[in-house]
Amino acid sequence: MTPAPANPMRDPHPFKVGVFAANADRGLTFTTVPEQWRAGWDDVQRAAIAADTGGLDFFLPIARWRGFGGTTHVREHSFETFTFAAALAALTRRIALFSTVHVPLVHPVYAAKALATIDHVSHGRAGLNIVCGWNPDEFDMFGVTLEHDAYRQAAEWSEILTRLYTSAEPFDFDGEFYRLKGAISRPVSLQSPRPVTMNAAFGAPGRDFAARHCDYLFTTFTDLDAGREHVRDIRERGAQAGRELGVYTVAHVVCRATEQEALDYYHRYSVEYTDEAALDYHVRQKKGFSSSHEDRAFIEYRQRFAAGTGSFPLVGTPEQIVGRLAAMHACGFAGAALSFVNYADELPFFCERVLPLMREAGLRAA
Ligand SMILES: Cc1cc2nc3c(=O)[nH]c(=O)nc-3n(C[C@H](O)[C@H](O)[C@H](O)COP(=O)(O)O)c2cc1C
Repeated sequence: MTPAPANPMRDPHPFKVGVFAANADRGLTFTTVPEQWRAGWDDVQRAAIAADTGGLDFFLPIARWRGFGGTTHVREHSFETFTFAAALAALTRRIALFSTVHVPLVHPVYAAKALATIDHVSHGRAGLNIVCGWNPDEFDMFGVTLEHDAYRQAAEWSEILTRLYTSAEPFDFDGEFYRLKGAISRPVSLQSPRPVTMNAAFGAPGRDFAARHCDYLFTTFTDLDAGREHVRDIRERGAQAGRELGVYTVAHVVCRATEQEALDYYHRYSVEYTDEAALDYHVRQKKGFSSSHEDRAFIEYRQRFAAGTGSFPLVGTPEQIVGRLAAMHACGFAGAALSFVNYADELPFFCERVLPLMREAGLRAA
């Protein structure tokens, strides 16, 4: 067997950049602009190849089972993330390919096999983003109740996944959530002991789960001061668990040659053209069932939710955006997953103009 090349998530760049949510219609936006992202396969392929050849580090899908209604039925169309990553593995050469998986909805024995398949097709570029979910309407589709102690289940789920790759013999597992007899999965992943993992969460139980079980936490922040404090907190939790983990965050991007162009476009897609009904539903569900944002974020930053589901805005020229990325790095973040209004159209400009400036700023290795 050919040895696996290192997953690009292990590259020494001080700040990694990837793409988030290109598998879902409208990405992270709630916009109705004509050029809105439809996530058709040919466009997705164009975006993935632009990110791969342009030098980005990872491609990370969102896990969604139903949309948020409104006039656009936003994110009702989304590609399933294991099969999505497997297809992209065959089309790309060097970028890391994550799958985003709901612990309460996907059995770990199934997940281990699917993830190992992607790791082999991609020659070691697979990654796993673990989510516990937050929208009860989505869970109702499966007849599954959204539990508040999902991270206890996630701990067993992760242990099973790793044991399936590391155990030489079939094993039994007798836990609170899983009872397995003679569990085995072949092939094991090329990455050892398992592909890189992140956990998407904001609240304390999610932070602790990431600190104990994952390579990275994937999280949100409202402003730089809150981000710095968040990173400090997770490092402390990691230290208590005897582990060091990277903290990734999420941002939406409008990168244009001039600041005015960027600001005008930002206003156009996230204020003038908003699917208000879908946005209202999303915010109501998120507030009720998730702690992935601080309460004040919903009130103070409605435009951020319309523009990028409450993520951090990167709006401006390439130079201004690199300044903001440097500030995020200074807070301790290891990288960011980015969304765009139209990924395929906007990624080439971003890669050509922003990545060289990041190198100059010391955020990327040569
Ligand atoms: C950056 C980020 C990305 C997330 N991505 C997803 C996703 O793709 N699908 C999903 O159902 N939940 C997603 N979540 C929600 C988490 O899985 C989690 O259920 C939610 O944040 C509430 O739990 P918490 O209190 O641990 O944050 C995401 C959360 C964060 C912070």
